[in-house]
Amino acid sequence: MKIQLDKESRIPLYIQIINQIKAMIFSGALPPEYLLPPERKLAEELEVNRSTILNAYRELKAEGLVHSRIGKGTMVVPYESKTEVSIRPPEHRLTWQYLLSDEACRFNDIRIIEMLRVNGDQPIISFATGMADPALYPVDEFYPDITYDIDKKKRALGHTLVEGCVELRKTIMKMQKEKGIDSLLEELLILSGSQQGLNLVARCLLNAGDTVIVQEPTYIGALQIFSNAGVKIISVPVEEKGMRLDIMETLIKKHKPKLIYVIPTFQNPTGTTMDLKSRIKLLNIAYSNQVPIIEDDAYGELRYEGNTFPSLKALDQYDHVLYLNTFSKTLFPGIRIGWMCGPKEIIHQLTVKKQLEDLHTSTFSQVFLTEFLKSGRFQVHIDESCRYYREKRDTMLKKLENSRIKGLRWVRPSGGLYIWCRLPLNISADTLLLKSKEKGVIFVPGSVFFLNNKGNEYIRLNFTYPTVKEIEKGMMILLNVIEEENKKNQEKIINKDSAICNPIY
Ligand SMILES: Cc1ncc(COP(=O)(O)O)c(C=O)c1O
Repeated sequence: MKIQLDKESRIPLYIQIINQIKAMIFSGALPPEYLLPPERKLAEELEVNRSTILNAYRELKAEGLVHSRIGKGTMVVPYESKTEVSIRPPEHRLTWQYLLSDEACRFNDIRIIEMLRVNGDQPIISFATGMADPALYPVDEFYPDITYDIDKKKRALGHTLVEGCVELRKTIMKMQKEKGIDSLLEELLILSGSQQGLNLVARCLLNAGDTVIVQEPTYIGALQIFSNAGVKIISVPVEEKGMRLDIMETLIKKHKPKLIYVIPTFQNPTGTTMDLKSRIKLLNIAYSNQVPIIEDDAYGELRYEGNTFPSLKALDQYDHVLYLNTFSKTLFPGIRIGWMCGPKEIIHQLTVKKQLEDLHTSTFSQVFLTEFLKSGRFQVHIDESCRYYREKRDTMLKKLENSRIKGLRWVRPSGGLYIWCRLPLNISADTLLLKSKEKGVIFVPGSVFFLNNKGNEYIRLNFTYPTVKEIEKGMMILLNVIEEENKKNQEKIINKDSAICNPIY
């Protein structure tokens, strides 16, 4: 056993001895049952006090690395005998449910997990996804650009900044500037999907018991995150121009919320869009009540007709808006890249929390995406998608219009991915789903977008994922099922005209 001491060092001698003996035990240089030199002998050898060696051996014993036997001296502990290290079954099986944290018990909603499980292999027509049309995925443009560049290939495989690749952030900053959002590099955080952004916001801004204001109905993922955070969710009804701002103002005064979550453009699920006046009004309410706004702009790029309105972030002059966006709807969801733009103090906090969650967003995705965005193909892709989606939306709308089902109402969206329908009176979306699924068509029942089991009179139909042919066939099937259910109900309704007075909101 060879120990070398540095007597000039500020590290105490006994610690130096411990560290070196430990290193020798861990490396195997001192095997199990190796007899350490007697204290007095080692003290002489190292020219130190005997108490220094005593202290070192005592610490090593306390850590269980050596032990002393009377008459034998101090030795490295032996491995346990073979029988002792064999696997012995526990007395009782571990019950994992009893180990769950409060947070896990508070939130156990698996609806999104189930939604993502539905895959394209099943012979089913799905109006239930929130996805782009896979036929439009820019596969050829996405892959070849970096195949020749070995440096880029290597960069794509390494770590990157928690905040996201600088080149991607700069490219997004440029894109945003064209839409009136001026930001600095430190004000932009790349996310592993905008869902992560919502979760980070909840972790950084919300305590259990706080209140948040949301639209009703709204994106299920946001409802889940707020529920998981243990906050009180106050809903403001959606109307044609986004949300009932008069009601919101009263609720803000009463509940003093910590934040407002809003999807101002082509809202999920209703497809409604706030006009300029409502946007300005909302900002003024936020300013006068000192409440920040989380603006979720997942669908803003996908406009099929009408005027484009500036985002709340573009209108915001006093740093009240945290802007959230994603490439999941415009490109494809598997890329898992979104971004958040806001005041640098909060972006810094979100970055600190993001590092806990995933270190950083996949470099691979970021490098590919940067190349694609810089090639200028993104806007071409959006224009092409909008052309296709407009046709698909119109096919679905036409089917609805031609159906002439009494009491069936819907919102005509100017963009986005969904048509929001209100079913004729007394038809439950859950029952309808069971019946239409049997016939090969699925959709999302409206209750998913409400709290407290409300909204079962609504359904959300996605028109971007299915092909035009599937929309035609699927709508025929679905509308027939609605018609059948309606007939059954009509017989029960004494005043038949009451079914016509069925407002959409
Ligand atoms: C309004 C809204 N925000 C966020 C998301 C989550 O998107 P991402 O795939 O970027 O996590 C969705 C997905 O459907 C959404 O509809």
